[in-house]
Amino acid sequence: MRDVVEWLKENGNLKIIDEPLDVELEIPHIAYLEVKKEDSRPILFTKPIYRAKGIEYDMPVLMNIFANKELTQKIFGKHPDTLAEGIDSLLKLKPPKGFKDKLAMIPKLYSLKNVFPKRSNSRGACQEVIIEKDSIDLDTLPILKTWEEDGDRFITMGQVYTQSLDGGMQNLGMYRLQQYGKDRLGMHWQIHKDASHFYDQYQKAGKKMPVSIAIGGDPLYIWCGQAPMPHGMFEMLLYGYVRNQNAQLVKSITNDIYIPRDVDIVIEGFVDPSQMEIEGPFGDHTGYYTLKEPFPVMEVECITMKRNPVFQATVVGKPPLEDKYMGWATERIFLPMLKPMAPDLIDYYMPENGVFHNLILAKMKTLYKGHAQQFMHAFWGVGQMSFVKHAIFVGEDAPELESHEELVRHILNRLDPQKILITQGIVDQLDHSSSETLVGGKLGVDATGDEVQRGIVAPLSDEELLGRVIEIDDRVLGLKQYMTDTKSPVCVMQVRKEQSQKYLISKLHALSSHIKLLIIVDEHRNNLDNPYMLIWRTVNNIDAQRDITLEPFIAIDATNKNSYDGYEREWPGDTLCTKSTLESLRDRGLVEYDEEFIEKWGIL
Ligand SMILES: Cc1cc2nc3c(=O)[nH]c(=O)nc-3n(C[C@H](O)[C@H](O)[C@H](O)COP(=O)(O)O)c2cc1C
Repeated sequence: MRDVVEWLKENGNLKIIDEPLDVELEIPHIAYLEVKKEDSRPILFTKPIYRAKGIEYDMPVLMNIFANKELTQKIFGKHPDTLAEGIDSLLKLKPPKGFKDKLAMIPKLYSLKNVFPKRSNSRGACQEVIIEKDSIDLDTLPILKTWEEDGDRFITMGQVYTQSLDGGMQNLGMYRLQQYGKDRLGMHWQIHKDASHFYDQYQKAGKKMPVSIAIGGDPLYIWCGQAPMPHGMFEMLLYGYVRNQNAQLVKSITNDIYIPRDVDIVIEGFVDPSQMEIEGPFGDHTGYYTLKEPFPVMEVECITMKRNPVFQATVVGKPPLEDKYMGWATERIFLPMLKPMAPDLIDYYMPENGVFHNLILAKMKTLYKGHAQQFMHAFWGVGQMSFVKHAIFVGEDAPELESHEELVRHILNRLDPQKILITQGIVDQLDHSSSETLVGGKLGVDATGDEVQRGIVAPLSDEELLGRVIEIDDRVLGLKQYMTDTKSPVCVMQVRKEQSQKYLISKLHALSSHIKLLIIVDEHRNNLDNPYMLIWRTVNNIDAQRDITLEPFIAIDATNKNSYDGYEREWPGDTLCTKSTLESLRDRGLVEYDEEFIEKWGIL
């Protein structure tokens, strides 16, 4: 990381903050605001302190390494599309027909020689300092508390290395890790993730599971940790492919897990599968808190580090954040791996305000009736793509997927309730919208066809429409229509929620000649003039099976759910910065913001 810091000074416009700053809220809030800026920068905090415990660290905290697309690309050393092309051509390798073919194949095969990690039993640079069990105190690491209501401090950029019970499979996953006291960490590997599958094996066998957590080193390690590699494939293969050099691994001191030799810090230990601990709450990348739930716990046996380690961390919350840029690289690099199961897929795009699993837009070549539906089922059935709640498919004549205005217009002109599929499937464990955990509604929109024939029968202005709506129900407080020049303008209504919105929607059927697509949001924390955050809110809050009706117009209830809706779980709150902390940082000249910035990103 020291090398990375030097490299970032040259290549990444690194911001260095020498002011003593609290690991609780202050450092995370500065990083949070920074990465939302147009010209966002990585930041090195040289003097972290833990004010509540009076600790001053001599270990700096590095944040926002993936601060923007340009820097992310530099970390990879190539544009992610170039890497994707390489993977695509490897997946398409065919047996050579003659000598010329064989020669042409050599460079491709040669590039694979560096894919496999190399293991060594000698000590690595990450083991220059060894802290044995009796001296372990996690308070000596500048672990952050990112949000006021978080359960405690969390390691947010930990590389979690695990292996299967028989040692035949290795895994690297990026999971958050809650600090419990001096020597225990919560393992937030969600039920669908590889480390959780390994954990099941140890649990069945009644054996303790070895885990090693690395922090720092090559920034690509952490990207590999979040990459959705197929089960059983070690992410270090991907590392070797991208870097074109084998990952160099060394054995942990107290367990059999191998970790990269050049990481800054390694926390080694074992998880006793007979014990769980309440984990959370934690302000997560959905922009909501994930609530308390039991998760496995690791007992730390040993901490090793370099002599001058740097602590790497990130903050997750409402988009856009660092995971936007990590996710962008993932999206590009994994396109060729989706194609074998969906060969006519041209491209896909996961806009960050859909927080990856809540919205995907895909462009495809349609060859037969039902082709888009076939893709929906394929997506919902494979790996982590199956977490996606809402998938919209467009044809090859559609604009570029990132041309937001044009694309939305294209979709709205093709929105046909007959071509909408609503079904059920698995959802990300973080999803809060469905009435039960892990399964929920799925929405698939087939917008691959021609424009629909009819638009709104009798369009009204916002004022006229609001007037008519209020006559029906005066708990509708505001209304705004978007894309009124399309066949399906989007009418967003803000309501004071005192009952299930099903009643309002059924009463609004009387206005079906004026409405084609209705979205209802709560009065609080929604701004009708902020479509970016309205999309974020809507795709987060809905369970398609419960919250969408298709006749006589499409109506989407994106309000927060409660017992009116038959929702008995606890509805989580938004991740919001702590006002007093932000104001104090501003008074000290450490952050700059105005009301527009705060409103735009839903910060307070
Ligand atoms: C910043 C960040 C934090 C994450 N936190 C978690 C987490 O706490 N738990 C989890 O299961 N996945 C988390 N993920 C997603 C996983 O890293 C991702 O699904 C990864 O592919 C899992 O690897 P695996 O399939 O090998 O388990 C996080 C991703 C990012 C970018």
